[in-house]
Amino acid sequence: MELKVARIGVVGLGLIGGSFALAVRRYLPDVYIAGYDARLSEMTLAKRLGAIDELAPSVEWLAAQVDLLMLAVPVQAMRSVLAAIRSVNRPEVLISDVGSVKGVVEEAFNSVFGELPPRAVLGHPIAGSEKSGMAAARVELFQRHKVILTPIETTDLQALAVMRQLWQTLGAEVLEMSPRHHDEVLAATSHLPHLLAFSLVDTLAGKDDNKEIFRYAAGGFRDFTRIAASDPIMWRDIFLSNRDAVLKALDQYVDGLGHLRAAIAAGDARFMMGVFSRAKVAREHFSKMLEQKSYKSMNQEKRITFVAQSKGPVCGDIRVPGDKSISHRSIMLGSLAEGVTEVEGFLEGEDALATLQAFRDMGVVIEGPDRGKVTVYGVGLNGLKPPAGSLYLGNSGTSMRLLTGLLAAQAFDTELTGDASLSKRPMERVAGPLRKMGAKIETGENGRPPVRISGGQRLKGMHYDMPVASAQVKSGILLAGLYAEGETSVSEPAPTRDHSERMLRGFGYDVRVDGNRASLTGGGCLKATRIDVPSDISSAAFFLVAASITPGSDLTLRHVGINPTRTGVIDILRMMGANIELSNLREVGGEPVADIRVRYAPLKGIQIPEALVPLAIDEFPVLFIAAVCAAGETVLTGAEELRVKESDRIQVMADGLKQLGVETDVLKDGIRIQGSDLQGGRVDSHGDHRIAMAFSVAALRAKGDITILDCANVATSFPGFVELANESGFSIETLSEG
Ligand code: S3P
Repeated sequence: MELKVARIGVVGLGLIGGSFALAVRRYLPDVYIAGYDARLSEMTLAKRLGAIDELAPSVEWLAAQVDLLMLAVPVQAMRSVLAAIRSVNRPEVLISDVGSVKGVVEEAFNSVFGELPPRAVLGHPIAGSEKSGMAAARVELFQRHKVILTPIETTDLQALAVMRQLWQTLGAEVLEMSPRHHDEVLAATSHLPHLLAFSLVDTLAGKDDNKEIFRYAAGGFRDFTRIAASDPIMWRDIFLSNRDAVLKALDQYVDGLGHLRAAIAAGDARFMMGVFSRAKVAREHFSKMLEQKSYKSMNQEKRITFVAQSKGPVCGDIRVPGDKSISHRSIMLGSLAEGVTEVEGFLEGEDALATLQAFRDMGVVIEGPDRGKVTVYGVGLNGLKPPAGSLYLGNSGTSMRLLTGLLAAQAFDTELTGDASLSKRPMERVAGPLRKMGAKIETGENGRPPVRISGGQRLKGMHYDMPVASAQVKSGILLAGLYAEGETSVSEPAPTRDHSERMLRGFGYDVRVDGNRASLTGGGCLKATRIDVPSDISSAAFFLVAASITPGSDLTLRHVGINPTRTGVIDILRMMGANIELSNLREVGGEPVADIRVRYAPLKGIQIPEALVPLAIDEFPVLFIAAVCAAGETVLTGAEELRVKESDRIQVMADGLKQLGVETDVLKDGIRIQGSDLQGGRVDSHGDHRIAMAFSVAALRAKGDITILDCANVATSFPGFVELANESGFSIETLSEG
């Protein structure tokens, strides 16, 4: 739409009015612009700086000349300016303003015009500085800043569109909200911080030794009080104009400060850690938001592409990051324990961080992670607090399924949500059995997220015979069982990872395992402990296959978890002829650990025993690559579960392999793969971290480059994958956009 404004008048040539005039001059050079200010000095300066074409002798004169009047005067001066405009009687003139409080401007219009005229579009650019006056005006002041327009029901839509376009032309991002909402938001985010800065500086300046204080006042004081140099008149007017909303925000703040005061007086370190660490995390989130990055994760927003080339051999002595399953559980059980749990080797990947954030949101104080170290201040089984909103769990199925069980018995309601991939995954498999225990849980369409849990239910222990071999379902039910009356037991059709059972025992809870059945009795308590998270065998798997298929390779992986419910990948690779040696076997915090040496060996195709499927459930994408590099045929059956992982891993791998010249035979519950050459090509990982890493491994043997799309989620389980892989002999280039 063409901007139908040829003549603009600015009333008030201070910082904002002056910057607006300068920006109009720069970005709309054909528009005539005149300005009025009660201070002649500001007007003449504006003319001299080229911000305006003409000095207006009065507001009335301006109102008679222009199509658009921009009012940039203090809110308290608004009434007299409006009276002057009204006296000219030109209802066709578009009027807008830049006032920091909108309710009071609306009232001023009402009292002068009897209404907010349809062609009055109120607004507020969220830009400025502690400096004031035309001398401080800057042409770029609004660039990439937000401007809030506050139309009401009777606002002329065309006038609104013109103002929107005008601000966008000046480089601003335009938002809309009601005047009242605007005033509440600004009271908290702008007015309150200014009040605190004024008050702190005034309090310190009033002290006898003030010179001393200011002389030594370094970074913190400077950062916190910069805005105390702002224009006193303007701020007086703002507090006069937005009294109620400011008082509400101030009361909340004083309340919070009171609690902190009490904590300091009582030496309550834990309370302070809670406030400070929650604030730190929130501040980091805000910084990302302000940098226009995603709230939850910078990676989610970016499109990341890997370009992987054949290289090798794969050699060295490396340690892959911590185990994802154990990291999740360390936060969950640490939070529910009594006492302080220290975790080392925690996986700082997005999935485990989603769990960590969820518990912070439920009031648990958690320090870190800092190079794998996390300290969890447990709140006891009944100490979680209701979160302020829904718990966002990103890409993490484990977080959602285990939390569904754990939250089923809390006193409060919760809602669990996730990203696009998680929102497609089945949740009834855990919600269904939990309902039988008395839980009230709703899932979304087709049993998918969001999961809504109604708190305050009494759960009854029961036995559940799992139809699918799923550690997530087993764990979800056992976690609910901690709160249930009597015994809760689960039997599984095939062995699945038993980290929950082991870790519960590590926290002093009696878990009984009898054959394929695990059981516990509700009503006990968890005692804090130390957890040393071993390296994740699922992450090690990429390197086990990489070294096995690349001639000349010899790689050692340190401190890898070799829990027998996880070592299917080693068994399968050995059956295919891989050269894998385990040494330095030991037990760390209830979990077996070893160093693993893997050397190149020619592989052969096999029929994968179905019993090994749950023990290698996450490793199949990369095992398919091993199968392509093996002589003869590899057949996988009994692996229907692969279709409901972060992607349909059977189909997505088959599609990708096809792009690389490898034909496969897709079965309902598996795949047949003939050993063959790999060509270069372009594959789509569909945002599935393990598919992206599997095709990076494939490149080691491919005849051309493999371009892998949608790789940002590698950060969910394996932060630093590309760096570690390249150090060991891979060649992966990362392209990022967005
Ligand atoms: C996990 C269990 C497995 C696995 C997932 C982690 C766990 O899922 O695929 O990556 O930590 O319990 P299922 O239980 O759905 O098989």
